[in-house]
Amino acid sequence: MKFKKKDSVKITLKDNSYEVLIGKDVLKKSNKKIFSTIKDAKKIFIISDTNIKKFHLNKILKNIPKNFVVKVLIIAPGEKEKNIKTINKALNFLLKNKISRNDAILAIGGGVVGDISGFLSSVALRGVQLIHFPTTLLAQVDSSIGGKTGVNSFYGKNLIGTFYQPNIVICDTTFLSTLPKRELISGYAEVIKYSIIYDKKFFTWLNKNVEKIINKNEREIIRLIKRSVEIKKQYIVKDEKDIKNKRAILNLGHTFAHSLEKSTNYSKNLLHGEAVSIGICMASKLSLILGFLSLNNYEKIKNIFLNFGLPIDLNFLKKFRISKNQIINNMIYDKKNLSGRLNFILCKDIGNAFVYNKIKRISVEKSIS
Ligand SMILES: NC(=O)c1ccc[n+]([C@@H]2O[C@H](COP(=O)([O-])OP(=O)(O)OC[C@H]3O[C@@H](n4cnc5c(N)ncnc54)[C@H](O)[C@@H]3O)[C@@H](O)[C@H]2O)c1
Repeated sequence: MKFKKKDSVKITLKDNSYEVLIGKDVLKKSNKKIFSTIKDAKKIFIISDTNIKKFHLNKILKNIPKNFVVKVLIIAPGEKEKNIKTINKALNFLLKNKISRNDAILAIGGGVVGDISGFLSSVALRGVQLIHFPTTLLAQVDSSIGGKTGVNSFYGKNLIGTFYQPNIVICDTTFLSTLPKRELISGYAEVIKYSIIYDKKFFTWLNKNVEKIINKNEREIIRLIKRSVEIKKQYIVKDEKDIKNKRAILNLGHTFAHSLEKSTNYSKNLLHGEAVSIGICMASKLSLILGFLSLNNYEKIKNIFLNFGLPIDLNFLKKFRISKNQIINNMIYDKKNLSGRLNFILCKDIGNAFVYNKIKRISVEKSIS
């Protein structure tokens, strides 16, 4: 893969194609291009959280062309905010400030802000324009791409939502400098996921460059964001609305992960990427138990997560005392539960994942450890 300081990936969809800009200082360098995507907008509604306000908001405001009226809504950070109450509050903010259909929402933050803002953009006046400005690694490689929006419900994670594509996505790596190390590492879980589902060479490259990546070497970070977006794109363009069992592959480990997040009541002690890391190890064990994955590859998968400093099993959640029953029961409402059967994503090899639903409860129980 060729390295460029500034790069982009085009997400080509039937109705709503858009570009993902990746690189250092892209906000500053591509300012004109970014804001020209929100045609006819007069107002920009920024949705962000208190951490972004502290570190970056002023800098971002300076880069917004002066012809826009800018309104800002700051929410509290964290997964617990991703609920319908926050949506209600934000809708009141938009309507009170007389948002019109041509106006735009600028989502600046991690996946929580992105998922909330995407949902808001799709329901406010039945749809307003949207720019995603992801500021966590996880949001740059995953949540800002592909148009899934939503909030959590009492019954489970991401159960209320829509599909809504942005006009453009800005992955400016400059903003990652203030991200706490644990949050950065959490993002690597989704990056590793892409390599396991689709690209063995990328898996080997990630393993080889762990140190450079953890130390935020610019070249490696930009390369891994671009490769992740390219891989996600493959699945989105084939199955934008997640109805053909193609996009579902991107959910490797997520049936377990979402259940763990719900079982810990969306605690700060379990970040989304950490849950995904444990979830992928469980899905890999399930693949091993069912005879699809070799022991050697199962060990390699566990080891890459360990190498990146990610958790691989329930030892990480000891203090929550979660039972296997609780984990399985909390899977029932997962949205990957199609026609009463849980859809599991399994692996045959590193770089080769598939959807499978002929699984007995006992095998799932054995894979939870
Ligand atoms: N829509 C999708 O396709 C999709 C895909 C994957 C994950 N998700 C969702 O994304 C969410 C997780 O996203 P996340 O990991 O980004 O978590 P997050 O949004 O909670 O952000 C993590 C923390 O980092 C802080 N932060 C963000 N940017 C920062 C920066 N540049 N400097 C300092 N602090 C910063 C935030 O305030 C927050 O405290 C979950 O809700 C998950 O369900 C959605």
